[in-house]
Amino acid sequence: MDLASELEALQAEALAALADISDAEALEALRITYLGRSGRMKALSKAFGEQPPEAKRQLGALLGQVNEALRSGFEQAQAQLRRAVDQSAIDISLPRAVPRIGSIHPISQVAAEVERVFTGMGFDVVDGPHIEEDRFNFSLLNIPEDHPARDAHDTFWLTHGRLLRTHTSAVQARTYAQQQPPIRKVVLGKVFRYDEVDATHDNTFTQVEGFLIDRDIHAGHLVATLKTTIRAVLQRDDVELRLRPSFFPFVEPGFEVDVRIPGAPGRFGRWVELLGCCMVHPQVLRAGGIDPAIYSGFAFGLGLERLTMLRHGIEDIRLFNGADLRGLRQFSA
Ligand code: DAH
Repeated sequence: MDLASELEALQAEALAALADISDAEALEALRITYLGRSGRMKALSKAFGEQPPEAKRQLGALLGQVNEALRSGFEQAQAQLRRAVDQSAIDISLPRAVPRIGSIHPISQVAAEVERVFTGMGFDVVDGPHIEEDRFNFSLLNIPEDHPARDAHDTFWLTHGRLLRTHTSAVQARTYAQQQPPIRKVVLGKVFRYDEVDATHDNTFTQVEGFLIDRDIHAGHLVATLKTTIRAVLQRDDVELRLRPSFFPFVEPGFEVDVRIPGAPGRFGRWVELLGCCMVHPQVLRAGGIDPAIYSGFAFGLGLERLTMLRHGIEDIRLFNGADLRGLRQFSA
């Protein structure tokens, strides 16, 4: 075949191949075959260069024409593919969908911190049932039936004398009924009160109950334990504690503990009530089969929500269980 026929055949073949192309990869492969540095067009150009001058004069125009036809053929095919992508349902200019990553709830974060501090002091982390028996929630804790102290607990009563536990102190009663000292336990669990929900009350909240029973235990041990824990969890050594005498049927003497963070904004810079505590009542030990002549111990119960609010300067307890997740997302770090 002479060079002119070869050029014409190449053009026909290349344009026919282009008509069948439907994706960018195949188009690029084809371009390399025909127009690449060692492609078919290059080979014919080289053959043209070796022609005598007379033949070159005759073939020159044809060579340019074929070259041009191929180039514009490829350009058109590329443009057409690009248009097809633009018109397809996929908008490749959109940022990709980023999966929403959840975060650990601030209550859980502070709970983990409390557990870390208490296990460091040799306490076991335990819990009991949410559906509790009257005796563990009340009677064994020195709150007999018809005692007015029951009124302080707005109780969700269930059938058969059962109830949703109103405090984690129920786990104290369960433990004393099962185990002799030494006892060193901490409970972090949900409790339930038939209470109006407002900025500082929820009907479901979390308590931390700690109790330690052994020989020669006194209130000094309790105060040291509380100071260590509260300062560690609030991450400040300057947190102040204040004890006020108070009444809880299961302790004698009983105290409420207030804390104050010097210089903290808003109400957290003033005294905030945090927990109830002190020496486990001899009657409670006796009811559990522990001899108060040999053993003594302390107990305390605090609201984990309150502690978490202090830790982060949160003003409204409804943030924790509400449906608006914007507040909670701030604690995802
Ligand atoms: N159970 C009490 C409440 O829910 C809190 C409490 C007070 C727990 C004094 C204790 C304690 O262990 O010693 O209101």
